[in-house]
Amino acid sequence: MEEKLKIGLLGLGVVGSGVPEILIAHQEKIRQVTGMDLVVEKAFVRDVEVESKKALAAEFDIQLTASIDEILDDPEISIVVELMGKIEPAKTYISQALAKGKHVVTANKDLLAQHGGELVALAQKHHCDLYYEASVAGGIPILRTIANSLAADDITNVLGIVNGTTNYMLTQMVTHAKSYQEALDEAQALGFAESDPTNDVDGIDAAYKMIILSQFAFGMNIGMEQVSVKGIRGLSLEDVTMAKQLGYEIKLIGASQKTGDSIHVEVSPMLVPNSHPLASVSNEFNAVFIESSGVGESMYYGPGAGAKPTATSVVSDLITIAKNIRLKTTGHMFNAYRHETHLTGDEEIFSKYYLSLEVPDERGQFLQLAEIMNQADVSFDQVVQQKSDGKTARVIVITHTTSKKKLDEVLTKINEKTSFSLENTMKVLGE
Ligand code: HSE
Repeated sequence: MEEKLKIGLLGLGVVGSGVPEILIAHQEKIRQVTGMDLVVEKAFVRDVEVESKKALAAEFDIQLTASIDEILDDPEISIVVELMGKIEPAKTYISQALAKGKHVVTANKDLLAQHGGELVALAQKHHCDLYYEASVAGGIPILRTIANSLAADDITNVLGIVNGTTNYMLTQMVTHAKSYQEALDEAQALGFAESDPTNDVDGIDAAYKMIILSQFAFGMNIGMEQVSVKGIRGLSLEDVTMAKQLGYEIKLIGASQKTGDSIHVEVSPMLVPNSHPLASVSNEFNAVFIESSGVGESMYYGPGAGAKPTATSVVSDLITIAKNIRLKTTGHMFNAYRHETHLTGDEEIFSKYYLSLEVPDERGQFLQLAEIMNQADVSFDQVVQQKSDGKTARVIVITHTTSKKKLDEVLTKINEKTSFSLENTMKVLGE
């Protein structure tokens, strides 16, 4: 008779219902790998009378409860899986579960990005496992890859398309000329978006994921206030089209880059050259591109959201814990790498930049722009002027590689000394 490992599920929504489904569908394989049967015993839901939840409970032989204590106080439940999302009450429930010696699996990126340090310390204190593979890029096993497979490597750059909603929207806007709102409505209907899609379109969801990725890649803990975040809200179809004409795709990129002993983390729309592997990542798919001294360049690609991919990652964490229990090695950190946090100064953040300007269609305007660029020691890589409407012309500039400090000088002077209207500024990734 195999040993039974009993699980308490907090939340029986889209991802939650995928967990018992996978455990049952792959029971034999999981039994061989862990030597145990993993069983969802109870599920905590707000209302036990909801018909859809009752049907799921009956299908998977799960006891529904609206009392969290029925799970937390059940000595037979050794793992709690939190799939409720948001900070509270998830944080309280996870803390209580750890304090009672239960191992925890969660997909909650908001919580891990903002309170991960505290929860990891609590798990350590109570010799419990805390795993959260599904919190970043849904079905892509990226955290385990960085923590284990790349443990011997020195990572220098992590670039990620880590928000499926915005990537879906950008793809639909470019390839099917859909409006911003149409594309967002579709992403919501397809179930990729957060309950409040503000977190998707304003880059917040991606920033949470980049904070977690930075902890794994560089061992550094940073807060949201240390991440520069810009979403896709202000993006115009003109910029997207112009970028395409110049040989680039605009993508919402999360970037965490190491310079010397410090890192810079940002989320913003960036121009990705068509030749870059990230340019071909479309719709709701996610990808994380890593530069490291040993492996060189590697990219990890797959679905970043959705019930089955996310639940598969959750179950992989459950399997890890089951193996740890069997081998009596629980209580070790998912990511043990720690490094003092240093942030890179603006003078050391280098990139090419895209500037989109509305310029009066008058003599001498270009000269003014060239002088400002020259004074700041920034040079042109590409310049395009679209046909003027008689009053203003749109001018697109791509600079050669320069520091953020110098770019800021250019932008300040454009604002102070010219009547140009600066429509957009974006980083341009290297080939
Ligand atoms: N809203 C998220 C996304 C879901 O669009 O990627 C997965 O975290």
